[in-house]
Amino acid sequence: KKITIAIDGHSSTGKSTLAKQLAKTLNYIYIDTGAMYRAVTLFAMQQGFITSDTFDADQLVANLNHVFLSFKFNEDLGFAEIYLNDENVEDKIRSIEVSNFVSKIAEVSAIRTKLVQQQKKYGIDKGVVMDGRDIGTVVFPDAELKIFMTASAEIRAERRYLELQEKSPNITFDEVLKNVVERDKIDSTREDSPLIVAENAVMIDNSNLTKEEQFNLILDLAHK
Ligand code: C5P
Repeated sequence: KKITIAIDGHSSTGKSTLAKQLAKTLNYIYIDTGAMYRAVTLFAMQQGFITSDTFDADQLVANLNHVFLSFKFNEDLGFAEIYLNDENVEDKIRSIEVSNFVSKIAEVSAIRTKLVQQQKKYGIDKGVVMDGRDIGTVVFPDAELKIFMTASAEIRAERRYLELQEKSPNITFDEVLKNVVERDKIDSTREDSPLIVAENAVMIDNSNLTKEEQFNLILDLAHK
């Protein structure tokens, strides 16, 4: 029987890597909700609603009906990539500029409402693994399996730093650590749908777990 799996947690805890692997093994669909908030951020940047020191939230909200997000499965990659108005933006949304701003975009209620509505639709037929910050609390409060992932900020920043080396060789560890800590803070303290541990969620601190150990742990839970 197919179930719904909700994976929430702090930034750079490896949620998406795990979720993708899980979806592949279980033959479920995988939805990266962080990618949706990132794509809206990219849209706002492209439209000039975000400059280095201003963010026009009202103008962005007024233009939300021009934001069309979709996922298309990429056979080679083995997961669904995100499209913003029919353009594949999977790479563009991972930039440090988007990372630095996305949590401020995610604080805007009208944006959350729009994205949550779309996310709920993906769960209608079960068989979905979704990761984000409010999946077990808001999007799928009835999910059969809820996971909350965390790890120490230093370990998370180190992992993200190594990952970013290829794309942004000039980035420093301190810059990455600052981004990780800042995003967690905004995500945990915002008014609308703050990042909290959902009721019945299984807490996984993966500071000292390998990817394989985490995967086996969660796969076990999914089969129960
Ligand atoms: O998961 P990822 O790090 O790509 O998410 C980027 C940002 O989007 C998070 O730091 C958070 O501010 C926001 N987000 C959110 N709710 C979600 C998913 C992401 O607020 N369900």
